[in-house]
Amino acid sequence: MATSIGPQFQEATKYSRGRPVPQAPEWAAPPPTYKVYEGYLETVELPPATKSGGVPLWDAINGRRSHRRFSGEPLTLEELSQLLFAAQGVTGELQQIELRAAASAGALYPNETYVVAQAVEGIAEGIYHYDVREHALGMLAEGDYSEDLSQACLGQTWLTQAGAIFVLGAVVARCAWKYQNRAYRYLYLDAGHIGAQLQLAAASLELGSCNVAAFFDDEVAQLVGLDGHSEVAVYVTAVGRV
Ligand SMILES: Cc1cc2nc3c(=O)[nH]c(=O)nc-3n(C[C@H](O)[C@H](O)[C@H](O)COP(=O)(O)O)c2cc1C
Repeated sequence: MATSIGPQFQEATKYSRGRPVPQAPEWAAPPPTYKVYEGYLETVELPPATKSGGVPLWDAINGRRSHRRFSGEPLTLEELSQLLFAAQGVTGELQQIELRAAASAGALYPNETYVVAQAVEGIAEGIYHYDVREHALGMLAEGDYSEDLSQACLGQTWLTQAGAIFVLGAVVARCAWKYQNRAYRYLYLDAGHIGAQLQLAAASLELGSCNVAAFFDDEVAQLVGLDGHSEVAVYVTAVGRV
C-alpha cells in the first residue's frame, strides 16, 4: 500500500480496467477557456508572428540547450510575439474550438501565460498577461520584478539577466471539470509541451532559454496575481539573448 502523497496520487488517478473512467458532467457547462481581466493597465498589441524562417526544426532540436547566461541585451517585440505564438498561438479551429500551437489534453488549454518583461524593446518592464485571442499583452503591473522573480525561484540570480520570463499558470477547473483529479497530471503535461515549444522557438530564433521548476510556488503565483489554488504556477521559462 502506497503511503506517501506521490505514489498515492499516481495510484488514485490511474485509469485501470474495471474502474470507471471519470466523465465530464453533462449537467455542468465547462469553465471558460479564456481568462478575461476587467481591464489592463495598458494593452500592447503584438506584431503578427512570423511563421517562417529561423533555424530549421532539426537544427533547433539538435542545438537546443539550457542557457543560464544572457548578455542582457533586449529581445525585440517581434521575437516576443513569435515566442508567445509558439507557446500558445491559435493555429486552427475544430468544431468551434480554437486549437493552439501546443497540444492540450481534451483541447481544454488550462495554462495561462504571463510574461515578466525584463528587457524587451518597445515595452515597459513589468508583468503582463498574454491575451491569446487578441495576440496582445495586457499589463498587470509596471516595474522591475526581476529580483522578486529570481528570489521566488529559489534565488536563481541568473534569471535577472533574461529578456523575458514566461510563467505558466494553470486554471485547475478548466481541466478538472472533465478529468477530475487526473487533471493534475495533464496541467503539468500541457505545461511541459508549452515549455518545449518555447525552447525550440528560442533555439530557432538563436536565443537562449531555460525552463525552471525550482520555485516557491506561492511566491511565483502571487507575483503574477494568482491565488495559488484555483490557478497555480506550474512552469517558468526564461528567454534571453546570448
Ligand atoms: C521540468 C524541468 C525543470 C527544470 N528546472 C530547472 C531549474 O529550476 N533551474 C535550472 O537551472 N534548470 C532547470 N531545468 C533545466 C535542466 O537542468 C536541463 O534541461 C538539464 O540539465 C538538461 O540540459 P539541457 O536542457 O541543456 O539539455 C529544468 C528542466 C526541466 C525539464
